[in-house]
Amino acid sequence: MRYKILGRGGPRVSVLGLGLWQAGSRMWSWRRGVEESVRRALGYAITYGINFFDTAEIYGAGYSEKVLGRVLGDLWDADLVIASKLAGYRWTMGSLRRGVEGINRRLGRTVDLIQHHWPPPAYVGVCRVIRGLERIVKDGLAHYYGLSNYPPKLVEKALECSRSVEPVSNQIQYSLAYRAPEASLIPIMREAGLSVIAWSPLAKGALAGVTRARAMAQRMDPTFRRASRDQVLLGALRRVAERRRATMAQVALAWLMHRGAIPIPGFRRVDRVKEYVGAVDLVLTASDLDELERASARYVNRGVYTPLQGMRLLPGVIQMLMIKMMGGI
Ligand SMILES: NC(=O)c1ccc[n+]([C@@H]2O[C@H](COP(=O)([O-])OP(=O)(O)OC[C@H]3O[C@@H](n4cnc5c(N)ncnc54)[C@H](OP(=O)(O)O)[C@@H]3O)[C@@H](O)[C@H]2O)c1
Repeated sequence: MRYKILGRGGPRVSVLGLGLWQAGSRMWSWRRGVEESVRRALGYAITYGINFFDTAEIYGAGYSEKVLGRVLGDLWDADLVIASKLAGYRWTMGSLRRGVEGINRRLGRTVDLIQHHWPPPAYVGVCRVIRGLERIVKDGLAHYYGLSNYPPKLVEKALECSRSVEPVSNQIQYSLAYRAPEASLIPIMREAGLSVIAWSPLAKGALAGVTRARAMAQRMDPTFRRASRDQVLLGALRRVAERRRATMAQVALAWLMHRGAIPIPGFRRVDRVKEYVGAVDLVLTASDLDELERASARYVNRGVYTPLQGMRLLPGVIQMLMIKMMGGI
C-alpha cells in the first residue's frame, strides 16, 4: 500500500480509502447482515494496508458510525484514520460541538478527521463554521478538520478565516464522469495544500459497468443516470480494462489516484473491496490516460461545482427536519 499525508501535516492515509454510506443507509436499502459484511470487508482492507474510512452523522441517522465503531473495536489498529462528517445545518459552536460529541460516542473513540458535510445556508458566514471547527480540534474532540462540498469561493473564504488550525482536505464529487472540479476548485485546493478526497469515484457503480439502478441512491443520482448511458466513456474504460487485465472499476479508481485524489469507493460486500484494492498497483500508461481523458473531456467544463449546493438555499432548521423525517440518508 502507498500512503500520503492529508493537507500540510495532517494524518497519514492510504492512497485509497473506503466509504461507509452504504453501511445501513435506506438509500442503499441495506440493513440485514450489514455488520458482518462490514467486519469481513474491513478485515480484508486492513490486511492490505487500507487505513482510511469515511462515514457521516446522517448516514442511516448514525447507524453507519455505530457499525464502524463496533467493527473497529475488534480490528483495532493504531494507524487507522477515521473520518466523519457534521451536517451542514450545524454551524453554531454549540451545535457543532454537540454533533461531534455524538459522533465520538457512536464511534467509541475520538474521530480523526471531522468534515463539514456541506456549506452552511447562504445567510450564515463561513467564518462561523471555521471558528467552531478550529475550537473542536483545539479542545481535542477531533484530531483534524476538513471541508466537504465547499465550492471554490467558499474554500477561499474558509482559508481566509482559518487562524490557528488549517483544514486538511475538501471531500468532493470527482470521477471520470464528474470532472467539474478540475476547472477551478482543484487548482485552488492544490495551491492551499488541501487534499482532494473523491466521493462517488465510481459514479455509484456506473463506471464499473452497472447500467440499471437498483438502489434509490443510484436512481436519484443524475451522474449515475448520465454515466450509465455514456457509451463513449464506458467503451474507453472497457478497452483500457481489457488491455491492463483489470476491471473497469479498478481503471476508474487508478485514474483518480493518478490525478492525486484519494478515492473512497463504497461497498456492500467484501468482493468489492477485493476488487478496489487491486487498483492501487494498477499502472496506467500515457496512452491509457489519453484515451480515458478524451472520452471524459466534455465533463471538465460543465460549469461550477454543483453537488449539495441547493441545500444552501434552505434554512438550517428545514434541512435538519427533512433529514430527520427521512431517518437520515
Ligand atoms: N461528502 C459527500 O457529500 C458524499 C456524497 C456521497 C458519498 N460520499 C462518500 O463516498 C463514498 C462512495 O461514494 P458513493 O457511495 O456515491 O458511490 P461509489 O463509490 O461511486 O460507488 C459504490 C457502489 O458502486 C457499486 N459497484 C462498484 N463496483 C461494482 C461492480 N464491479 N459491479 C457492480 N456494482 C459495483 C457498488 O454497488 P453495490 O453496493 O450494489 O455492490 C457500490 O456500492 C460513500 O460511501 C460515502 O462515504 C460522500
